[in-house]
Amino acid sequence: MQILDGKIVSQAVKDDLKQKTAELISKGGKTPHLAAILIGNNGASETYVASKVKNCEEVGYNSSLIRFETSVDEATLISTIEKLNADDDIDGILVQLPLPKSINEDKIISLIHPDKDVDGFHPMSIGKMIQGLPTFLPATPYGILLMLEHYKIETKGKYAVVIGRSNIVGRPISILLNRNTYPGNCTVTVCHSHTHNLKEICLQGDIIIAALGIPEFLKNDMVKEGAVVIDVGITRVPDTTKKSGFSIKGDVDFTNVAPKCSYISPVPGGVGMMTIAALLMNTFNAAKIKSEK
Ligand SMILES: NC(=O)c1ccc[n+]([C@@H]2O[C@H](COP(=O)([O-])OP(=O)(O)OC[C@H]3O[C@@H](n4cnc5c(N)ncnc54)[C@H](OP(=O)(O)O)[C@@H]3O)[C@@H](O)[C@H]2O)c1
Repeated sequence: MQILDGKIVSQAVKDDLKQKTAELISKGGKTPHLAAILIGNNGASETYVASKVKNCEEVGYNSSLIRFETSVDEATLISTIEKLNADDDIDGILVQLPLPKSINEDKIISLIHPDKDVDGFHPMSIGKMIQGLPTFLPATPYGILLMLEHYKIETKGKYAVVIGRSNIVGRPISILLNRNTYPGNCTVTVCHSHTHNLKEICLQGDIIIAALGIPEFLKNDMVKEGAVVIDVGITRVPDTTKKSGFSIKGDVDFTNVAPKCSYISPVPGGVGMMTIAALLMNTFNAAKIKSEK
């Protein structure tokens, strides 16, 4: 069994981006600049955004963090996005999800200019992804592809089972694994909360992507010998032994599933780190495209 180590792979991606960024700037291109919008003070969102900003600095990008109270009204958010869209120095815009219930998430995401949609959530980006056209891929699925690529994991002809069908993880990774390219060419089944015989379906999976948000859902008796298991789940569970009062759990019962796997990604230290690496890739590409215009 080999661990799919998000720390190692994301560091390799960042080292490469650091070098490419320096090259881009030395050739007269612009310094990539990511703008992140954070609303409210959800602990997990705070941590993710702080990490994204820190990682931008690490590879030599500029970053701007724009914060609002939970009570922010939609009009203020809309005008902020419009300003960022019009600002030539901003290459990528991300709005940290989830948004407060009073704000229409789909509407806000669709206002981000597709050229700056480095999270890959805009309907235009999703449409292009489905058609296999060049675009920004959603960061978490893209991170999973980068991980598969790094470890040269064979995907052609494999049976992939994706648990979860959200717009940001399950559905896009199912489409990407099904593309006629590498990583891809899988036969894919997407499972959700109404799926019958989930265990039997998972037992057929050469590759299982667990993205449902239920800690340790995927058990040892749901996985066949030699499977590749990718754990996307991140759930904070109360833990009195930790200073923070919680620990992070994935969607896979790692201890008992790992011995059966050919490859498995841990939580933490797996896909989460790859999501940030993918976001940095998208931001670099946005700046590069702009620099070449
Ligand atoms: N590593 C990262 O960077 C990263 C990025 C994003 C998300 N995440 C984590 O990944 C997990 C999933 O996130 P998400 O945004 O995709 O979640 P989501 O929007 O809540 O979607 C969860 C999906 O799982 C399905 N599901 C729920 N219970 C199920 C069950 N018992 N059996 C089968 N399917 C079930 C749901 O089915 P229905 O459609 O029928 O409701 C839904 O499609 C969360 O833990 C999240 O924190 C991690």
